[in-house]
Amino acid sequence: MPFKIVNKQVLDEGVKRIDILAPNIARKIRPGQFVSVCPEENDEHIPLTVTSSDPERGHISLIFPELGQTTRKLGNLPINESVFSILGPLGLPATIQKKGAVVCIANGMGIAQVLPICRAFKDQGNRVIGIIGAKTKKALILEPQMRLACHALLIATNDGSFERRGLATDILEDFLGQNKVDLVYAIGAVDMMRKVCAMTAARGIETLVRLNPVMVDCMGMCGSCRVKVGGEMVLACVEGPEFDGHKVDFNDLEIRMNAYEEPQEWGNRRSKPKPPRSEPKTLAKFLSGIRKS
Ligand code: FES
Repeated sequence: MPFKIVNKQVLDEGVKRIDILAPNIARKIRPGQFVSVCPEENDEHIPLTVTSSDPERGHISLIFPELGQTTRKLGNLPINESVFSILGPLGLPATIQKKGAVVCIANGMGIAQVLPICRAFKDQGNRVIGIIGAKTKKALILEPQMRLACHALLIATNDGSFERRGLATDILEDFLGQNKVDLVYAIGAVDMMRKVCAMTAARGIETLVRLNPVMVDCMGMCGSCRVKVGGEMVLACVEGPEFDGHKVDFNDLEIRMNAYEEPQEWGNRRSKPKPPRSEPKTLAKFLSGIRKS
């Protein structure tokens, strides 16, 4: 049966991991790419990063917060049930090269996206330092997997319930002051990525970011994922989602993302999810966002 759910796990309240049988995608997907998932016929498609893949067994793993009607529906599908459709791999793979010392920094759900990138940098022979942050220890996901994927892992929690109190960027600032770093890779909230890029630009350190704008068709046709990079509008779904962080206009990205009333799936997760309510289709949200801007 195509796209059968073979495993499920609750990582945190409202955060699920599902493993799906998708042999063609598992064989082709590269770190940094994503898929577009439609849980049931006539549902909207949602873009989700593939956190890991097992080409031999034909499985892909998706980790996602249940923030909207579609992600909740996906999270509620039982093991052995099938997902209606999965399109992918989509987007360009992450740029993985031998650089030397590579810092991968992520917060919130961005940790699920940075994990395959850490693994790939390590496999290329880099020394990988992971820096991850979450609001609380309970909200911190994938810590054991990140420890395996990195040579060293530094953790910050906002409330100090685990490791260092504060933000992942506080750790990065200290780390950059004491160590030579060849590349920084950042994924997460817009504020965090903007701060990281300001720090690394001041030190002349190459920085890549993975952006998570709203995506509708994920194939370069709707224009919803436009982001300004190097003064030009580009489409994150086909020309990204990875970009040179020092060229990204984060203010423009923030304005575009704030045009949508619903919280974003990745990176900008609110501390308290809104109560369930009927969710307009993504295209309707996109059009209403345009009217507001
Ligand atoms: Fe439609 Fe990128 S999601 S153009």
